[in-house]
Formats: sequence, structure tokens, C-alpha cells
Amino acid sequence: MIGIFDSGSGGLSVAREIIKILPREKYFFYADNAHCPYGEKSREYIEDRARAITDFLLDKGADIIVVACNTATAAAIATLRREYAPLKFIGMEPAVKPAALGTKSGVIGVLATAGTLKGSKYLNTKSTVDSDIKIVEHVGRGFVELVERGVLEGPEAEETVRASLSPLLEAGADTIVLGCTHYPFLIGPISKIAGPGVSIIDPAPSVARHLRNVMEGEGLFKNDGAPCGGPDIELFSSGDPESLRRIYSLIYR
Ligand code: DGL
Repeated sequence: MIGIFDSGSGGLSVAREIIKILPREKYFFYADNAHCPYGEKSREYIEDRARAITDFLLDKGADIIVVACNTATAAAIATLRREYAPLKFIGMEPAVKPAALGTKSGVIGVLATAGTLKGSKYLNTKSTVDSDIKIVEHVGRGFVELVERGVLEGPEAEETVRASLSPLLEAGADTIVLGCTHYPFLIGPISKIAGPGVSIIDPAPSVARHLRNVMEGEGLFKNDGAPCGGPDIELFSSGDPESLRRIYSLIYR
């Protein structure tokens, strides 16, 4: 079974891409809604949550765990890999490298949480990008809360998105990296405000491909999930399950 977790319902944007390419596996998705958002919380706090969730997923029978949260990847994945070895953890990758290859203006915008932007994983990846390319960053302030409340379009969503996206567009960014797994659910307002000349990069499909490669290498495929039809996935929320239910039914109507 593939265990997937996030601070909230946003990680379903990653689960969706994984299920597209591995439709016959069994899944357990844990949304830590009771402790969401993680964005401004301390590393220790997030590590503790990540350990508790990992124990829970292992209890449920997980063979591999996807940390479908950029903030938890930044804060806790190194600790999880050390403490739970040889268990495999797949984390989120800040997609600045593909963005650097695609930009024509030479300016990349990154939207993420404060925790992700100050994490060493992001800082290291950023330092490998060609110095001719300018990287501008902004916290997607209020984005996670909008998604958790199910406000994915309309004036409130647009106003919130505009406040964080405009500084990146004004700096000349023609490529925007979504550095938080909640943000793809705001793709409507993000695309509308960014306009047609701006590419939006969601790292979830490449994380899904990476998971498939690791599972292949480790011989972890079970093919014991749904043979056809909807995904074989169990959902769990540590808090109010309404947000999870809403986002899930948006993906799999
Ligand atoms: N989905 C999480 C991430 O990717 C949300 C962050 C938060 O809870 O603040 O970073």
C-alpha cells in the first residue's frame, strides 16, 4: 500500500497524479487537517507530526510513503529517512530546474510557504540554477486556507492570489513554480491572473514518475488495488473531514 500525507487536503493534487500512472495500487491518504497549515510552524513541530503520521501509515500497512507536502519535505524528510530506514520516502521537489530550462524572460517566480522557501532543499536546488536566471519568490499568503475552505474561484480567491502573484509578474516572471501542493487547486485564479503568456509548473507529475521508478527498483508493485473504475484509496483526516471530502469529490466526481 502507498501511504500519502499532507498537512491538509492539498496533497490530493499529488495523489491524483500518482493514481493516474499507478491506478492499480492501494492507497491511504492522511490529511493532517487538525494541524494545518504547517507553513509557519517550527521544524520540530512538523517532524513530530511527520513521525506520528508515518507510524499511523505503517500501522495501516504502508510499504512506501509519499510526503505530499513541500513544507513537510523541507522540514522532516531527512529525519524520517534516517529514523525509519530502510523505508522509502518520496518527497516534493521544488521545480526550479525545469522552470529554468523553460523560461524565456530569464525570470522564474516561485510561490511556496515560508517553511519551504527557507528550507535547505530549496536553497540547494536554487543554488544549482544558472546565475543568469533570476528567481523571485513569494509566500502564497492565504492560499492554503482558501483551499481548505473550498474557495477555489471567485472574487475572494482572485484577490488573495493576485496579492502574492503580482510581485512575481511585475518582476518579469514568465514561469511560475507552484511550490505547495495546495496551490494546484487554485489553478483557475492563478492562470487567469498570470495570463496566457505565463507557464505554470506543478511538480506533482514528476514526483509521481519518481515514485514509480523507486517502486520499480524496490519491487514494491502489488497491483492489488482497483482493476478499473475509481481508485482504491482510503482517506483519513485528523480534523474536520469536510475539506478532504470536498476536494476529493472535486477530483473524482
Ligand atoms: N501542502 C502543503 C505544502 O505543500 C501546505 C503547507 C501548509 O500547510 O502550510 O507545503
